[in-house]
Amino acid sequence: MAVTLVLWYGLLLIGLAILAYFVYASFVFGAGYQPTPRRSVLAMLRLAEVGPEDVVFDLGAGTGAIVFRAARIYRARVVGVEVEPLRFLTLTLRRRLGRFPDRITLVWGNLFHLDFRPATVVTAFLWPGAMERLRPKLEAELRPGARVVSHCHEIEGWKATVYDAATDVYFYRWPEALDVTARTASEATPSE
Ligand SMILES: C[S@@+](CC[C@H](N)C(=O)[O-])C[C@H]1O[C@@H](n2cnc3c(N)ncnc32)[C@H](O)[C@@H]1O
Repeated sequence: MAVTLVLWYGLLLIGLAILAYFVYASFVFGAGYQPTPRRSVLAMLRLAEVGPEDVVFDLGAGTGAIVFRAARIYRARVVGVEVEPLRFLTLTLRRRLGRFPDRITLVWGNLFHLDFRPATVVTAFLWPGAMERLRPKLEAELRPGARVVSHCHEIEGWKATVYDAATDVYFYRWPEALDVTARTASEATPSE
């Protein structure tokens, strides 16, 4: 009885420690964690017309809501960059245990240190401040024809080709994002 009680308390303490770490890490790394909802992930990948020829960069890959679907459903090559160690460990384990590991490259570090030039598609679900810092880097490094999809936060100063209100996804084409007229569309009805 006493042993069971100690075990339960132990598990509870471990759970609380993990939870506290996730909250703490959000401040230390300036990087909150909230996985992109499945519907929005599917809308992002569909709007960007991701396919096997694409190289998708997921900026702030979290635990892989976008990374693994892009590789599994669309057979894209995916680069996921993540700064927070526990999330990166989760990504590494999922990659090792999952399908298509050879389609997935994981980078532990700051996304602002990554060279975006190989990307044909960029996906992001980041805080507004990070999106603001991201814009000049995208403008300097994206190749013409690259597509950018962002969940929840738009890229200030760019015009979305499509904004899907149902999933809160902004879709941009580079370099047309600098001068196209924003349109609203809700035709994306994602399905797995
Ligand atoms: C809102 S979560 C989205 C996670 C994932 N893309 C998804 O769709 O589920 C944002 C992630 O970006 C990571 N992140 C934020 N700033 C970063 C940076 N400068 N470099 C690398 N990762 C970063 C955070 O640690 C967090 O896991």
